[in-house]
Amino acid sequence: MQALNGFRDFYPEAFAQRAFIFETWRRVASGYGFVEYDGPPLEPLDLFTKKSGEEIVGQLYNFIDKGERPVTLRPEMTPTFARMVAARHRDFKKPLKWMALPQVFRYERPQKGRLREHYQLNCDIVGEESLSADIELIACLIDVLRGFGLSSKDFVVRMSDRQFWIDFLIENGVPESEWYSKLQAIDKSEREKPEVTREKLGPLAEKIEKIFTEGAASERISTVMNGLKGMGLEDYIQVDFRIVRGLAYYTGIVFEAFDRSGEFRAIAGGGRYDSLLKNLCDVALPALGFGLGDVVLSELLKSKGLLSQKSAQLDYYVAIADESYRDRAFGLIHQLRDQGCKVDYALNSQKLVKQFEAAESRGAVKVIIVDATIDEGAVLLKTIATRDQIKISLIDLLQISVNEK
Ligand code: HAM
Repeated sequence: MQALNGFRDFYPEAFAQRAFIFETWRRVASGYGFVEYDGPPLEPLDLFTKKSGEEIVGQLYNFIDKGERPVTLRPEMTPTFARMVAARHRDFKKPLKWMALPQVFRYERPQKGRLREHYQLNCDIVGEESLSADIELIACLIDVLRGFGLSSKDFVVRMSDRQFWIDFLIENGVPESEWYSKLQAIDKSEREKPEVTREKLGPLAEKIEKIFTEGAASERISTVMNGLKGMGLEDYIQVDFRIVRGLAYYTGIVFEAFDRSGEFRAIAGGGRYDSLLKNLCDVALPALGFGLGDVVLSELLKSKGLLSQKSAQLDYYVAIADESYRDRAFGLIHQLRDQGCKVDYALNSQKLVKQFEAAESRGAVKVIIVDATIDEGAVLLKTIATRDQIKISLIDLLQISVNEK
């Protein structure tokens, strides 16, 4: 029996890497004032069929539950977030800044950087129309990635203005019913053959391609760029009109983060979605946010040697020299654990060499040897890294370990 294709087992080493990623996400995002929330992993189907767009609807893990309700595993967090905020929006001071670390599920073809489940850091802001919120959000994404030790040599945030494209479609007489398919064609233009994109764009193809190469004027982009320059983050940004985002609800500044080498899929994506709360829940509040997945991020960090492999280290491994000392060793182990130390020991009688081996393989910092010395109220304390061994009284040992905590 194996895990389903596209799903991961997190053995302790992989779990430690996941924990390292989550810790960094939380540390940096909470430093920006984002507070954490969560929602249900299973949602009514129509929460996602209404406004996310066809692409994601085709990837839903949906089914009819035992009460005959159409439901789906969440493929993303944004509609849940919009629903939760809209339901109690009067209770929260605006702008609100919330973050979540949901596991999300998409029935995609598993490939490099794309699985059928992944974790996403979501940071979203509601209730702020001004572009200073866009600046804050993009800066947060950059700093989360910098928090792992990545620099502007490693990744870039490609930024664009979806409203610019909507205005462009209006000016060129494209009916609203065709906007989404045109925007999708722009979004996919880098992954598809040029002739396929040209056919989808029709008579506007030439004009659009010119904007891809030459750019265009957008006051929104200039304002955000200047703000990010003010923060010293301009090296992380590239204006690129090919970015429009695949999800249907975006309305303004949009962005995606990529590795500089172009080896991986998008690391993160987001933007403004000022109409989603109104369209889903009839609450008119501007909003914006991003999602940063753990799959591409892990691949990138691994390739740069930045993915911490450190598993949960033990402070002490207690080696019991002889079974006659076991009960007294228990007393010491318990006191150390009460002080908040991470302590482990052999559950059955073992030679000391075996116990030292176990201590090393568990990544213990120190080994406490409980032998005849315990009769004098002392133990031997060995530091694994240096192999130094000293005799120490139980009183001093407990004092040192409390000081170190
Ligand atoms: P998204 O671009 O669909 O946006 O996903 C965000 C990130 O999740 C992607 O850049 C990628 O790293 C990761 N991701 C997406 N699909 C997969 C997959 N199948 N396997 C592994 N990783 C994946 C959203 O989901 C928006 N809801 C983000 C957002 C939040 N917008 C506003 N607030």
